[in-house]
Amino acid sequence: MINSKIATLVAHYNQEMIAFRRDLHRHPELPFEEVRTTNRIAQELDKLGITYRRTEPTGIIADIQGGKAGKTILLRADIDALPIQEINQTIDYKSTIDGKMHACGHDSHTAMLLTAAKVLNDIKHQLPGNVRLVFQPAEEIAQGAKAMIKQGVLAGVDNVFGMHIWSQTPINKISCIVGPCFASADLLTVRFKGKGGHGSMPHDTVDAVMVASAFVMNVQAIVSREVDPLESAVVTIGRMEVGTRFNVIAENAILEGTVRCFNLAEREKIIAAIKRYADHVAAMYRATAEVDYVYGTLPVINEQRSALLAQSIITQAFGESYLYNERPTTGGEDFSYYTENIPGAFALLGSGNPTKDTQWAHHHGCFNIDEEAMTKGAELYAQYAWAYLNQDQF
Ligand code: NI
Repeated sequence: MINSKIATLVAHYNQEMIAFRRDLHRHPELPFEEVRTTNRIAQELDKLGITYRRTEPTGIIADIQGGKAGKTILLRADIDALPIQEINQTIDYKSTIDGKMHACGHDSHTAMLLTAAKVLNDIKHQLPGNVRLVFQPAEEIAQGAKAMIKQGVLAGVDNVFGMHIWSQTPINKISCIVGPCFASADLLTVRFKGKGGHGSMPHDTVDAVMVASAFVMNVQAIVSREVDPLESAVVTIGRMEVGTRFNVIAENAILEGTVRCFNLAEREKIIAAIKRYADHVAAMYRATAEVDYVYGTLPVINEQRSALLAQSIITQAFGESYLYNERPTTGGEDFSYYTENIPGAFALLGSGNPTKDTQWAHHHGCFNIDEEAMTKGAELYAQYAWAYLNQDQF
């Protein structure tokens, strides 16, 4: 099922891959501002003679036509960086832009997918089908996948595959579990309106601080008392804006939070419960409530055959010891918009290595990757495309 030529080709392009990743790392760009990154990818694709089209406002879709007719496999990498100050002192390819950083490793995703493009382009005459390479912008704001889908990225696609380099997973381990691996990630805003007044005369007021506090303390009961204990969910209130002065009773409170879960039926139950809690807590204190719920990413759910295909490639290409079952994460990933529509799988590429100081959490100013993981990541992209197009069971 695996193609042994692929490892040799990846090794051949390895130095170029590292140089390309470091170039992107020096020049991070925020979501939907990845103009330089998009141009750099386009330049490389031009050199290879791979056809592509640009998407609006940034991003690239490239297509490699195989020598024989067949299905189409989509390989996806995200390309955006974050508004974070890099504080790595030890690397000479540090971000050159103050306050912006590739703190999630998307620079490595881009470099690995470009390397897979080179490899698959070299063996395209043997490919029984087509490979679509998707360099997606704006993953960090969960808008890039949606924008590309609107622009037709999924047309004619039979299966999708993506990966994330992952500092929590050790180096030399790769995970691609069956079922949910990332959670839905939604945004919640609750506004309470009371009646302001003098801090010495509470009887003439409706205190929004009381209402907001009661809501924060009570809303956690949704997870403990209403969500099925065999399911996972998170309700977090991360921000609260209420009050103006020590001796003024607040009229308004604004609370913002996020809801995470892996099951869409539980998600709807949680939304209904939050509205009920907001209304009833407000009523208890004579205030009113308004809930604004914004659906974010869906859970990423790995289709069984696709995940098992990735697992068998990991075992065959890299050895039994590479296969790792990482726990699902309550983080969000907009790859979910692809798997919502098309069967596929998403892998986590272990990169945590304390001897190289790459164990820092994603989105931390010290985040970095063990570049040795990239060799396996690039190979996994290419082997997955090869194996998927070569097998009949799909
Ligand atoms: Ni990320």
